[in-house]
Amino acid sequence: MRLVVLVSGSGTNLQALLDACADPAYGAVVVAVGADRDGIEGLARAERSGLPMFVCRLADHPSREDWDRALADAVAEHDPDLVVLAGFMKLVSEEFLDRFPTVNTHPALCPAFPGTNGPGDALAYGVKVTGATLFVVDGGVDTGPILAQVAVPVEADDTVEVLHERIKVSERAMLVETVGRMAREGWSVDGRSVRIG
Ligand code: GRF
Repeated sequence: MRLVVLVSGSGTNLQALLDACADPAYGAVVVAVGADRDGIEGLARAERSGLPMFVCRLADHPSREDWDRALADAVAEHDPDLVVLAGFMKLVSEEFLDRFPTVNTHPALCPAFPGTNGPGDALAYGVKVTGATLFVVDGGVDTGPILAQVAVPVEADDTVEVLHERIKVSERAMLVETVGRMAREGWSVDGRSVRIG
């Protein structure tokens, strides 16, 4: 399964996929990495792995629609079977999603705490358990059919940063395990139900 991975930040989820893909038995390969900004560690990781990269910056396009189409065209050049949003901090359009099956990982237990501040919102609410969710992207914000979830405890003295780092350890393992299973066993979506295998 050919993966194009889109990133906006440190790219530790990308790195976990790259490490897994080094084993041919994993069943997937990252064929390119894209980003919505320059100068991020996620792109440096792709460069160190010798992978094709592209950057598609919103500011370089006259409208959001133009940006989205340019992003989709850049992705299409690498002919992916699956697009993985791994800390990609932009929403993509329905047109993008019509072109590529796309999954996203979110650092909270959906449907709780959608948006860009999942760990902070969970901490502020005072939940004792939060986690991460891998889902098939639809037109909403962290609303798509759920592929996998992992629970992570909130500890008494957590800061947002400490909690997010704890979540990310489990998030990376969930991402790697689930994408590998999708590659090896196949997957299908029926309404809100996702079946792997
Ligand atoms: C992940 O927790 C992701 O779910 C969130 O941002 C983080 C990205 O981390 N949207 P990284 O760039 O993969 O290290």
